[in-house]
Amino acid sequence: MALTLTKLLLFSFLVSSTVLTAKSKLLTSKREKLTRFLVYVHDQNAGSNATTVNVAQASTTNQSATSFGLVGIFDDALTMGPEMSSKNLGRLQGMVAFASRTEVAVLMSMNFVFTKGKYNGSSLTVVGRNLLFSKVREMPIVGGTGLFRLARGYVQTSTYLFDPNTGLLVLVYDFSVYHY
Ligand SMILES: *[C@@H]1O[C@H](CO)[C@@H](O)[C@H](O)[C@H]1NC(C)=O
Ligand SMILES: *[C@@H]1O[C@H](CO)[C@@H](O)[C@H](O)[C@H]1NC(C)=O
Ligand SMILES: *[C@@H]1O[C@H](CO)[C@@H](O)[C@H](O)[C@H]1NC(C)=O
Repeated sequence: MALTLTKLLLFSFLVSSTVLTAKSKLLTSKREKLTRFLVYVHDQNAGSNATTVNVAQASTTNQSATSFGLVGIFDDALTMGPEMSSKNLGRLQGMVAFASRTEVAVLMSMNFVFTKGKYNGSSLTVVGRNLLFSKVREMPIVGGTGLFRLARGYVQTSTYLFDPNTGLLVLVYDFSVYHY
């Protein structure tokens, strides 16, 4: 009985180590590299062409100084430079949920979708906490597709411009991403 168990363990060890070797060959065939780049995001939160919409809120959200319980969806333009007329790179699509009862802090879950330029066809996924009134906000990069397969890293964002009259918010996202 004990011998059978030992054989079984040995067998499963051999199988799993073979799988691991195959996987690590795949990963080491290309070297992981660090890429740093900036993109700008144009978020229009008012008017008929708003790129952010509120989709849900709690019955108490209107009484909350931090909008606790508010959930929004956005589909913003991604550009190379701060002007809307600069080269378009794709879209930033995701969800924002006001998740703090005491601070203006949101949970963001979003995809940077590249449809132009050298990252065309690739995407990066960012999930994290964003303390909206801090000068620089940092969030983790949790993955990616295409050129960004197996991505990990962090992104720092700050407000480039906010026009309260038009509702236009321009943000800069500064990526530091490891990928293969
Ligand atoms: C909204 O977008 C449409 C189509 O791009 C455009 O014709 C219209 O002028 C825009 N409206 C506003 C208020 O910007
Ligand atoms: C909260 O306020 C908004 C904007 O004034 C209003 O449209 C909405 O009906 C209110 N919701 C509740 C649940 O009171
Ligand atoms: C982006 O990639 C798609 C799919 O490969 C291709 O059809 C499209 O022409 C490319 N666009 C640019 C601007 O390179």
